[in-house]
Amino acid sequence: MPVSTIEWHGGIDGFCRIIEQTLLPTELKYVDLVDQRQMWDAIKRLAVRGAPAIGIAGAFGVVLGFKESKAKNAAEFDRDLDAITSYLASSRPTAVNLFWAIERMKKVARGLRELPLQAARERLLAEANTILTEDKAICRKLGEIGAPLVPDGRSALTHCNAGGLATADYGTALAVFFRAKELGKRFHVFVDETRPLLQGSRLTAWELQHEGIDATLICDNMAAMVMRDKDVGVVFVGADRIARNGDTANKIGTYGVSVLAKAHGVPFYVVAPVSTFDLTIPDGKHIPIEEREDKEVTEGFGKRTAPTGIRVFNPAFDVTPHANIAGIVTELGLIERPDAERVPAFFKRHGHPGV
Ligand code: MRU
Repeated sequence: MPVSTIEWHGGIDGFCRIIEQTLLPTELKYVDLVDQRQMWDAIKRLAVRGAPAIGIAGAFGVVLGFKESKAKNAAEFDRDLDAITSYLASSRPTAVNLFWAIERMKKVARGLRELPLQAARERLLAEANTILTEDKAICRKLGEIGAPLVPDGRSALTHCNAGGLATADYGTALAVFFRAKELGKRFHVFVDETRPLLQGSRLTAWELQHEGIDATLICDNMAAMVMRDKDVGVVFVGADRIARNGDTANKIGTYGVSVLAKAHGVPFYVVAPVSTFDLTIPDGKHIPIEEREDKEVTEGFGKRTAPTGIRVFNPAFDVTPHANIAGIVTELGLIERPDAERVPAFFKRHGHPGV
């Protein structure tokens, strides 16, 4: 990424600086978030977005929340911790990385309740910064593991934005392209525009262009024709939550892309860190799907394109069944043909307790 998606400035009384993603690609602007309410709002309105990035945002949100704490003892510290974390957790429901990061911060915080407040806050800031640094390393690893799956001399297709803007840096699905390019592979990427909020055209096209990757933007409804006629050899997408059987929630439209990929014999890969797995749920039916305002569909970006009063359905995510997924690239390795046996077995084999 040419710029930092999210970072902390200063000490415990500092602030979190994010790219205001709603303005891209026409304006690259940073906003400084000084309290937890601003962080909640930034997550809700997708100023900071993408599963790993909102996990990092949630962690910094906890640090911001404690700026206002006046806790004088362990009980008051616990009360503030609960209030801050449940507030931040209410911002968006689907990406499990948010809950994973908040839980990690909570776990650290519980060991700090007897410390002076200042020292506890310093430790929480260090933990949030560690989550950010780890995410950078994880994304590099995802790129490394995924790059061999890019077929040389052919096209790939991606949906939504799973790039540096959706993570601390480098991305998940886009990391695969970035690494493949570094390795000298020749390929081309079709970018679904991703209605209604256009993360594909506003963000993915912007990132790929910046990195000099040969890319073509298409409307979502062109994907079938493109897969049939334009030598698409692979699909890579990110994920917001992956169930124990490999069912994967990602941006609305991903399920459709997976069906098309299956119909055209194109391998469909999910690229995600292990913090995106939710092994507590057996399948995708248990993934909470965020529904967003009608306005995103009827008057996206300020122009009314539907009659007033029309009923609207606007789910932000859908679930791709594991049967449509050729593999899930994680920082621990590739899970081929994920299902209810292979996903838990993979975590077990890697001695990972699961998320
Ligand atoms: O609503 P968004 O823009 O937060 O949705 C983002 C996606 O669906 C991404 O594909 C997903 O979070 C993976 S990001 C590495």
